[in-house]
Amino acid sequence: MTFENLLTTIENAILTITINRPDKLNALNKKTVEEIGIAIRNAEANTDVKAIIITGAGPKSFVAGADIAEFVGLSVEQGKALAQAGQDVFRQIENCAKPVIAAVNGFALGGGCELSMACHLRIASDNAKFGQPEVNLGLIAGYGGTQRLIQYIGKTKALELHMTADMINAEQALSLGLVNYVVAPNQLIPKCLEILEKIKAKSPKAITGVINSVNAYFENGVNGFDAEINEFGKCFATEDFKEGTAAFLEKRKANFTGK
Ligand code: COA
Repeated sequence: MTFENLLTTIENAILTITINRPDKLNALNKKTVEEIGIAIRNAEANTDVKAIIITGAGPKSFVAGADIAEFVGLSVEQGKALAQAGQDVFRQIENCAKPVIAAVNGFALGGGCELSMACHLRIASDNAKFGQPEVNLGLIAGYGGTQRLIQYIGKTKALELHMTADMINAEQALSLGLVNYVVAPNQLIPKCLEILEKIKAKSPKAITGVINSVNAYFENGVNGFDAEINEFGKCFATEDFKEGTAAFLEKRKANFTGK
């Protein structure tokens, strides 16, 4: 499938989604958000895809935010609808049954920081910059940023970043726990591939169980421990569980099929 604002490639069962509006620093207009939603939905349904990388085109920016040009003249109701649409797609990424890594290759501001936070893991190049600068525009984050930044860096620093609009660099993001690793720009995709190859060798069913259980911690009205019990129990019905335990007992490498 071809997209207006995304490039997609599948190699070794890893789908790379590249947000492709480099002249606008990959700002997320409505069409792009919609296309990301479609790409993730397609990837979940495609048995040839086992993992996903999301990155930005060009050397300068992952995503420099929602497209500010589209904000002009919006009513309260239209503003809410915009936030709802963004949150829906970002929640879809967070709940994706397959692992999703953000390869943050530069500015991750506003909606860009929020997009990276919706991914399961974040790898940053050493020129990456993170921030929630919406207050500079008389706005606040709308694509889940006020909720997810707290989850990664705690209320103290989250409030500071949201209220000051300050940017932090990749090393600061690492020390705050916002990103998993910082690497040189030319090592960004190789590092993502290294991690995903490791994850791909595990049982896909078990990986989905991990995603669902960990996400349950942050879901209102859901008891994460109960969710874990449920996900743990479900593993026992899988071929992967039988293969994993048999391989251990037979002292060989497991060959998981995702069944
Ligand atoms: N929405 C729409 N367009 C954007 C954008 C955004 N969030 N971020 C950057 N762009 C566009 C610029 O308007 C410019 O377009 P033009 O060449 O047609 O004028 C182009 O991308 C390049 O950006 P520019 O500002 O010239 O690059 P820079 O290197 O001087 O500055 C940033 C980079 C990221 C610091 C700056 O672009 C910026 O502050 N962007 C907005 C960040 C933001 O507030 N995000 C949250 C939005 S809710």
